[in-house]
Order: sequence, then structure tokens, then C-alpha cells
Amino acid sequence: MSARPSDVLTIEASFDGTGVTTALPLADIGDHVMRNGLALLKGAFPAALLQPVLDGVFTWGQESAPQRESENSFHRIDERPPQSQCPHTFHAHNFQLRPGRIEAEMDALIRPIFSAMRDLQNSVGGTNAQFEPDAEMRFLRPQVIQYPSGGGFFDEHVHPLEPQRVGLITGLSEKGRDFNEGGTCFRVDGVEYSFEDTHAMGDIILFRYDIPHWISPIDESESLDWTRKAGRWTMVLPYY
Ligand SMILES: [Fe+2]
Repeated sequence: MSARPSDVLTIEASFDGTGVTTALPLADIGDHVMRNGLALLKGAFPAALLQPVLDGVFTWGQESAPQRESENSFHRIDERPPQSQCPHTFHAHNFQLRPGRIEAEMDALIRPIFSAMRDLQNSVGGTNAQFEPDAEMRFLRPQVIQYPSGGGFFDEHVHPLEPQRVGLITGLSEKGRDFNEGGTCFRVDGVEYSFEDTHAMGDIILFRYDIPHWISPIDESESLDWTRKAGRWTMVLPYY
């Protein structure tokens, strides 16, 4: 695979306690992503802020029972589900930041990060997405996803451009500590881009929502054990 992260617009970012700030105007970064497909915000969140999120979500996913689907926050383990159109293996923690649909402790833990991601989403994507449903019943659906060591992956797929326009992927784990190989990959105009070595904990990948992407297998030589924290973890914010 050709890995050309040097081609990707990479911007230093930081968290000011409320939102993600960058030297370049966020609307300009969004325009770049819509035209060219990709951008990378380095250091958008400090690892010290994210580590309790990783630990807390992992513990919640171990101590509460998995469900297939729910009106409330829930988590689900998918190991190559046969009914799925796009093959994948991951543990998805699906949250709703709405009253009565999430435990108060979990809300307090994850809301600061997902609120900053919501504001970033709306700035770069030109959306007006919220955690509460709009008139068309669309809302933001926070997810923390573990691609476990032992073969977590997601085959190549695309999404409709609208209404999301720009997708955000916040790195919640660190290569070399939480996992050793595998990562998020994209194809733009026939060129493959791997973020395996450039997407550190706290960095945010921005991608035009309709470009092909996939997760290459995480630590395939290890055995799969859903009780382990090991793997590649991300925070995403689908809007539909
Ligand atoms: Fe996707």
C-alpha cells in the first residue's frame, strides 16, 4: 500500500477547555477537506483528557451486557456478523447524549470531548448537527469503537456525502502501547493513504464523507479476546 501522509494537510491543534482551536480558520480546513478529501489535526485533545474516557468506556463495555440495538446508550460486539453488508469486527459503544438515554457518570465523562467534536463538525462540515433530533429526526450519534487486537477490522466502504459532509475520527489509543499494527486508510483519486503511523491519541482525521475508507486488521497474529482493552480505539460522531 502506498502510504503518503506527507501529502495530507496536517495542522497543529489544541483544546482550550471547550473547543478545538487551530491556526487555520476551521471553515478553510473544511473547504480543503471537501476539495481534497483529507486533513489531520495533530494534538487536538491532550492524552490526559482522553485516557479516562478510554478507561471508563472500556469498563462500561465490560460490566454492562451487550445489546443488539437500543433506544438508549448501548454497546455491541460484532465479530464478522453474517448479515452485515460490509465485513467488520469491532466493539461499538453507542451513546446518546440526551436526558434519560445515558447514565449521568458516563455523560459527564464523554460530553466534553463529543461537544468539542460536535462544534468542530459543524464548523468544518457546515452542518448544524446537535445531540437532540432536528425537524427531520437527524441527530449526532457519538460512538467509541474498539478494533481489538487479534484482528479487529472494517472492510472498505463509503457513505453518502450528505448530511455529514465531513467525518471526524479522534484517535483514542496509541500505537506501540495499545496495539502494534493496523489503522485507518483512505483512497483519494486512486491513491491510498494510511494513517497507521500518524494518527496518535488526541489527533483528529477529517475526511470527506464519501471517499472510500477502511480499517486494516489490528494485530492479526494475536488471538481475539473481547475482555482485553488492547486494540485501536477511536471516537466518531455519525450524523443521520
Ligand atoms: Fe465509515
